[in-house]
Amino acid sequence: MATILPDVSRTFSEFLLVPRLTKKGQGVDKVDLTTPLARRHDAQADGFGINVPIVSACMQAVSGVELAISLARQGGLSFIFCSQPIESQADMVRHVKSHKAGFVLSDSNATPQTTLAEVIDLMKRTGHSTVPVTEDGSSTGRLIGLLTDKDFWEFEDDLSKQVKEHMTPMEAVIHGNVGVSLKEANQLLHKHKKECLPILDGENKLTSLVFKKDYVDHRRHPMELLDESKRLCVGAAINTHDYQQRVPALLEAGADALCFDSSDGFTDYQMEGIDWIKKNFGNDVVLGGGNIVSAEGFDYLVKNSELDFMKVGMGGGSICITREQKGTGRGQASALMAVVARRDEYFKETGIYIPVCSDGGLTNDTQIVIALAMGADLVMMGRYFAMTDESPTPKTSINGQMYKPYWGEGTQRAQNWQRYSDAMSSREMRFEEGVDAYVPLVGPLAEVFATTLSKVKSTMVNVGADSLSEFRQKAVLTIVSEQSVVEAGTSSVFQFTANRELEDLNWGTA
Ligand code: IMP
Repeated sequence: MATILPDVSRTFSEFLLVPRLTKKGQGVDKVDLTTPLARRHDAQADGFGINVPIVSACMQAVSGVELAISLARQGGLSFIFCSQPIESQADMVRHVKSHKAGFVLSDSNATPQTTLAEVIDLMKRTGHSTVPVTEDGSSTGRLIGLLTDKDFWEFEDDLSKQVKEHMTPMEAVIHGNVGVSLKEANQLLHKHKKECLPILDGENKLTSLVFKKDYVDHRRHPMELLDESKRLCVGAAINTHDYQQRVPALLEAGADALCFDSSDGFTDYQMEGIDWIKKNFGNDVVLGGGNIVSAEGFDYLVKNSELDFMKVGMGGGSICITREQKGTGRGQASALMAVVARRDEYFKETGIYIPVCSDGGLTNDTQIVIALAMGADLVMMGRYFAMTDESPTPKTSINGQMYKPYWGEGTQRAQNWQRYSDAMSSREMRFEEGVDAYVPLVGPLAEVFATTLSKVKSTMVNVGADSLSEFRQKAVLTIVSEQSVVEAGTSSVFQFTANRELEDLNWGTA
């Protein structure tokens, strides 16, 4: 006979946090939300981590370039979906990495002979208003001058004229030399009141550009997640079928973290994948495994591997029908608590700390807090991000309300890409594990995210915690009865303000 677990499969909405002492001087502005992604030895704070404990799901309708950029600016991380050919996924990673950096490779260049009409065309295509003029028109050629959109008037000047007649010539271009630090480069921009500083080598060849707007942008996003070269960080998903080709391509493109995207990661296939990746790339890759829902799954994937973080969840996702289709899964809260308990024991036994990510099924900000209190180091969400302006899908108006399409990775729609990819074309889909749906549009990510983070911090202060690890240690949770869930809403009052409805809409529960 099958083993029957004694506990009931529970969800986050069945729990509440009991407030604890808030000390004088504690406040939301003092709360530290940084969290690790790389495994840690004896809880040392080294290794890759993120600035807020929220990542976006490995899904076509969620983690595209625009969302990845926007989320990294808020301190989180996107995992670009792997349900696409390797080259297009690597291109998306490259795109995020090159989006903004202290020192960027110039990708809009002209020769002195290029016409103004051609330059205008180039500026429209790339969206850039500064064009270095190099001898051969390449991004690393000898610099001859600099042209910006302020150097000509599109509707007044003769557009057949050549760039050399309008550019600032090399002698007058303020530049930095290779080896200059970003701080020094910004100081030069400040001192000379310039927007762009070309960095040149000993032969006056262009190596990179530093922009004032990047500096300003950085100051406006103090939490943004940057790598050592000041580029935005981005993650990427992988699968157990083509990792030997996909992983090198993604790392080469600059991915900062990888994770297996699987509804059931408790498999030999994933273990082989982890082994191969860690054997070939060692600690150069931050690697997540899963999804799992049990201590047994945790032991299998972690005990004999160098896996960095573990994703937990099966069947809780908003578009997920795995539990109905296959009868597998576990209440998300129970799954998380089981894995966290084993992770904590494992830490005591070995001194190795494995960050745990609670993936899917979060339906409001409170549930993020409960997941973090239960021991998740971070949460992964799909629907939350699919609803924002920055998700990769088009806005659609239905009955006067704006929506965005949101579909599961286990749908025919998501898996159609395989038809066009040789490596995966033999995999046939007999039934779907997800649905194709719509979610309400909530506007720019920065706005909803700010509300979410302030709620998370505010609850942490109620529990007297300044950091996520302290929050986990201090949190006391109580299971609520159905009646107390009813009581948690407003009772016996009439509300005439639109605010609450708007808030519900933010999470799509209206
Ligand atoms: P959400 O935040 O509740 O929308 O859940 C997102 C999570 O659902 C993802 O991170 C995946 O773990 C999971 N997921 C994505 N696509 C599917 C699917 O088609 N079936 C089942 N689960 C899915």
